[in-house]
Amino acid sequence: MTEKDRHAWWKEAVIYQIYPRSFADSNGDGIGDLKGITAHLDYLKELGIDVIWLSPVYQSPNDDNGYDISDYRDIMTDFGTMADFDEMLREAHSRGIRIVMDLVVNHTSDEHAWFVESRKSADNPYRDYYIWREPKDGKEPNNWESWFSGPAWEFDEATGMYYLHCFTKKQPDLNWDNPKVRDEVFDMMTWWCEKGIDGFRMDVISMISKVPGLPDGPLKDSGLYGDLTPYVCNGPHVHEYLQEMNRRVLSKYDLLTVGEAAGVTLEEAKKYANNEGTELGMVFHFEHTDCLEPEEKVIGKWTCRHPQMKNVRAILNKWQTGLEGKAWGSLYWDNHDQPRAVSRFGNDDPKWRTLSAKMLATCLHMMKGTPYIYQGEELGMTNMHFTSPEDCRDVEEINAYRQFVEEHRMVDAETMLRCFDTVARDNARTPMQWDDGANAGFTAGTPWIPVNPNYTSINAKEELADPDSVFHYYRKLIRLRHENPVIVYGVFEPLMMDSDAVYAYRRVLDGAVLTAACNWTDKEQPCSLFDGAQGKELISNYAEHKDGVLLPYEARVFLS
Ligand code: GLC
Ligand code: CA
Repeated sequence: MTEKDRHAWWKEAVIYQIYPRSFADSNGDGIGDLKGITAHLDYLKELGIDVIWLSPVYQSPNDDNGYDISDYRDIMTDFGTMADFDEMLREAHSRGIRIVMDLVVNHTSDEHAWFVESRKSADNPYRDYYIWREPKDGKEPNNWESWFSGPAWEFDEATGMYYLHCFTKKQPDLNWDNPKVRDEVFDMMTWWCEKGIDGFRMDVISMISKVPGLPDGPLKDSGLYGDLTPYVCNGPHVHEYLQEMNRRVLSKYDLLTVGEAAGVTLEEAKKYANNEGTELGMVFHFEHTDCLEPEEKVIGKWTCRHPQMKNVRAILNKWQTGLEGKAWGSLYWDNHDQPRAVSRFGNDDPKWRTLSAKMLATCLHMMKGTPYIYQGEELGMTNMHFTSPEDCRDVEEINAYRQFVEEHRMVDAETMLRCFDTVARDNARTPMQWDDGANAGFTAGTPWIPVNPNYTSINAKEELADPDSVFHYYRKLIRLRHENPVIVYGVFEPLMMDSDAVYAYRRVLDGAVLTAACNWTDKEQPCSLFDGAQGKELISNYAEHKDGVLLPYEARVFLS
């Protein structure tokens, strides 16, 4: 690797994702906002993170909580004003914290001015900004199911045609094959860069180029619709469009860029995030969040099962070794679309929660790539329990319940709710647990989504005061990354691949060897990696160790 490939601030940084709606409410309306974020920057400074990735804060009717944008150059009324944004950016920068914006440009809101024009008539100048098709045999142009249930097409009375929406019907897909669309998007990105933001997380960016002809997809397991992913993910022009974006915008600034790449394979990722820097800095892949066998699923993504360590490890190790020397990677357990890490991969029983949350954090943060922490993960926040469909706020859950439970009776209500307990996106969206006061200190009003009742024992105030908390453990992991180049740049080598219980690996750089071992179970497990080792322990979730074994959920990292 050359020196140029080697050095980049965003390779050495730790990112913290904020879902503004659920982070901190400053004015008592029950909705988190920008002033709430500004008020908690010192908390993030204390944690030690370098960058905030802000889920969308643009003007939006909130059909999908801001991922449906009606004005890219304005702030969502619920979240405040552009003056509040500028203040937040200034205050973050003054603390050495950078801000990365969510860029949602696969689609807009149907309330965006471009779509309002586009739907007016077939010869409107904005018509070709979106993907319109004639009906086929009086029905949808193809069999695609939207990501959030139901057909991916909506009929529009005004012109008697359908428009494509890979997500909700209030999220029409932009037509990236139209050069005017690309001009508009690149202008808008430049406008934000000129404001001084530090990068973009690009929402479903792997979906911007559709296969011409939009052919029917293979029938899904429900038998109701076809799968659109083969024809919209990693499509024929996606790399060309990203290279154009890179030439025209990204290369002119010093940015962190990360593409959310639904359906991305290792081979595709090497193109998106290539070390030559012609496209993006890195991508998020989803293989480890969906590593169950088909028979472990109830329907679609819905399941009550938890992934096995050996399957998660096979995937992450493949990415660690596969990207080496070719492209940069990202590391995450959690985000606003995933259940809570400690509930999914660890053990959220009060007896094991703290230990297993620290173990998971160690396992991820000692790997190669840029780590992302999702708000509340640093406290070991857990999934919540759904008692009725009324508990749901997320359009994905609401639509799935309607389609599979109510309309087609393919799943019974109880099973669906248990699936929600396991993998629903709302698990990540319950309010941030600041303290043990009313509404976990999130709001003085009524929160837009219920607070997880365990806030009385899991909250930031308590963890800040306890040196053995998950919070202080994350803080140490972040500091270690900043201090030890081997954690950033060391080459990854798997260890103990014959164990289904211990996830172990080495990182090697210029004579430094880091060894990490993590016990993913609640039982002692044999492990002799540290017996007689010379060097120093960097971190562990146990104060005392036992020779020849790892204690339940023990994690240990050694540098020699
Ligand atoms: C991405 C976002 C998700 C959103 C979807 C549509 O997957 O992370 O929250 O619903 O795109 O924009
Ligand atoms: Ca508010």
